[in-house]
Order: sequence, then structure tokens, then C-alpha cells
Amino acid sequence: MRRDQVTEEGIVALVDGFYDKVRADATLGPIFEEAIAGDWGPHLAKMYDFWSSIMLTTGRYKGRPLPAHVRLPIEPQHFGRWLELFTETTDELFEPDVAHAFQVKAHQIANSFLTALETVKQF
Ligand code: HEM
Repeated sequence: MRRDQVTEEGIVALVDGFYDKVRADATLGPIFEEAIAGDWGPHLAKMYDFWSSIMLTTGRYKGRPLPAHVRLPIEPQHFGRWLELFTETTDELFEPDVAHAFQVKAHQIANSFLTALETVKQF
């Protein structure tokens, strides 16, 4: 049954499911494998904190996500694929209004990253 609320358990299921898809993806997989180099535990833990901070305002994530992306070989089209997989995973796990709330946040953040990366990297 799909979840009708945002909970910590749902965030763990989302992050685990999303990064399973990312790892298997021909476009995004290699970027992550290169950056994460073996141990996915710390990245997944960071992403539980991140989404908990965004959706449940727990303040658990203390990082600065933009610099982590500036040094990656990311092109504008990667964001389209990232958002596609994120939309797919949220639709599988949550009722439509909850899935939509995650998707709105992801689009806002992706757009702000893209704008910043366009300035820094001059795509
Ligand atoms: C970290 C890739 C989009 C949120 C990372 C890392 C990679 C990555 C490889 C690990 C960096 C490292 O440990 O050195 C990508 C790619 C994206 C993308 C290829 C799409 C083009 C997004 C979006 C969000 C996001 C849209 C938010 C909605 C984060 C956060 C971290 C992270 C919070 C942890 C940063 C930190 O504190 O170290 N990303 N990402 N990413 N990503 Fe993304």
C-alpha cells in the first residue's frame, strides 16, 4: 500500500529505492559510482537527513549541497534523468498528493542547482 504521509520510514524507503534506480541507470550510475567509490552507507545516511530536513523540517542535514555538485561531471540533461527517476520512485511509494509534495521540492532544488551550475561552469 502506498503511504499517505511523510514519515522517516517512508524517507528511508524513498532514498533506498531511488538510489537503487540511480545505480542501475546507464547515465547517472557511473557519476555516482565514481564519486562514492564503494561505500554507499554515508551517502544514503546523508540523504535520509537531507529529505527529513526538507519534508519534516527536522534540521538534521547540516551540509552544503551545491559545492558537492560543482565538482561533479554533471551536464544539464542529467537533471532531467534524476528528476524522472525521483518522480518514478515517489509515485511508487506515496499517494499522489504526498508524491507531488516531494516532486515539487526536488524540482525547486534541481532548478536552483542548475542555475548555479550554469553560472559556475558556463554550460
Ligand atoms: C550528493 C550527484 C542532483 C541532493 C551527491 C553526490 C553525487 C550527486 C555523486 C555525492 C557527492 C560526493 O559524496 O562527493 C547528483 C547528480 C544529480 C544530482 C548527478 C543530477 C544531475 C541532486 C538534486 C538534489 C541533490 C536535484 C536535491 C533535490 C544532494 C545532496 C547531496 C548530494 C543533499 C549530499 C551533499 C553533501 O552534503 O555532501 N549528488 N546529484 N542532488 N546530492 Fe546530488
